Amino acid sequence: MTTMTKAKSAPALPLNTIIAGDCIEVMNSLPEASVDLIFADPPYNLQLKGDLHRPDNSQVDAVDDAWDQFASFAAYDKFTHDWLKAARRLLKPHGAIWVIGSYHNIFRVGAALQDAGYWILNDVIWRKSNPMPNFRGKRLTNAHETMIWASKSEGAKYTFNYEALKSLNDGVQMRSDWVLPLCTGHERLKDDKGDKAHPTQKPESLLHRVLVGSTNPGDVILDPFFGTGTTGAVAKMLGRDYIGIEREAAYRVVAEKRLASIRKFDRDALQVSTSKRAEPRVPFGQLIERGMLRPGEMLTSMNGKCAAKVRADGTLVADSIKGSIHQVGAHLEGAPSCNGWTYWCFKREGKVVPIDVLRQQIRSEMEERPN
Ligand SMILES: C[S@@+](CC[C@H](N)C(=O)[O-])C[C@H]1O[C@@H](n2cnc3c(N)ncnc32)[C@H](O)[C@@H]1O
Repeated sequence: MTTMTKAKSAPALPLNTIIAGDCIEVMNSLPEASVDLIFADPPYNLQLKGDLHRPDNSQVDAVDDAWDQFASFAAYDKFTHDWLKAARRLLKPHGAIWVIGSYHNIFRVGAALQDAGYWILNDVIWRKSNPMPNFRGKRLTNAHETMIWASKSEGAKYTFNYEALKSLNDGVQMRSDWVLPLCTGHERLKDDKGDKAHPTQKPESLLHRVLVGSTNPGDVILDPFFGTGTTGAVAKMLGRDYIGIEREAAYRVVAEKRLASIRKFDRDALQVSTSKRAEPRVPFGQLIERGMLRPGEMLTSMNGKCAAKVRADGTLVADSIKGSIHQVGAHLEGAPSCNGWTYWCFKREGKVVPIDVLRQQIRSEMEERPN
């Protein structure tokens, strides 16, 4: 007789919820390798000594909350080590993490990231276009924060939507210095008394850039220091799933209310520019196999100066050369390389058409095919 033991199923991911509790304990209870991206805005450990006042003697609303206080650097380092370890266990093999911090903590966090086995991809300077002045005039105006972007390990195939970020930046490659304003105005959440609901609410613009650049719709994003839920709000708008962890009940209440009012952008608006390399490869030979071009048909160069004949195996032959569409084009132009897809044209009904049109036709058929 055989006895069947029921396989223990992995606990389900609590998607699109805010979990109450200590982030290390909560992360350790979630299933391993289940998250695509972690965005973490941990305590800064500001070590403020005494109140800070403006020249008119009004008090600056600085981060002096209990959650930001640690007994020593060693205590902060231990905390950082523990949460980074718990976070790394949750990441899928090709997952990545962003951690934001200031000069008070980011160097300690950077070393801890490397010690924990993460692989740093970039550090990004968020330059605040509207920073708080240095009221005492004793130091430089502290006008930036640093974000570290790291993959789970060296060699991981992390998500990077290069073309999408380039489009966001008016067609110019996105750099590692981002000029964005602090969260103010209607975006700044207030409590019942009209005071800031959270001292360190991050701007949605920052999260928009992070999530468009390093996640795709449907990805799971975890924020272990959820605060007012900026990560969740932007993730929801962008059609990503989020998991938030927050210890303080008051912040969870604010975040719940905020998230309830957020609507997801429509499906078409969520599509972003992709790299040409990410598009499915179509071999030139497929155009011949499918009868879109016939063996023996003549192709002409875009400038009309050169011609070559299509062969049954998907190569071209011209006077002195035979080879791929790229090799023959490069040889005839005397160039080191040539993109044959945009160089060669065929004739239909008297019109000269680039062969790339046929490749695009095949690609669009691939997209329409259900998975
Ligand atoms: C810098 S704030 C994050 C602000 C957030 N990014 C936003 O836009 O609102 C850090 C948050 O982490 C929470 N926190 C600190 N230590 C925690 C822990 N061990 N577990 C869970 N939450 C914690 C704090 O209560 C605080 O809200």
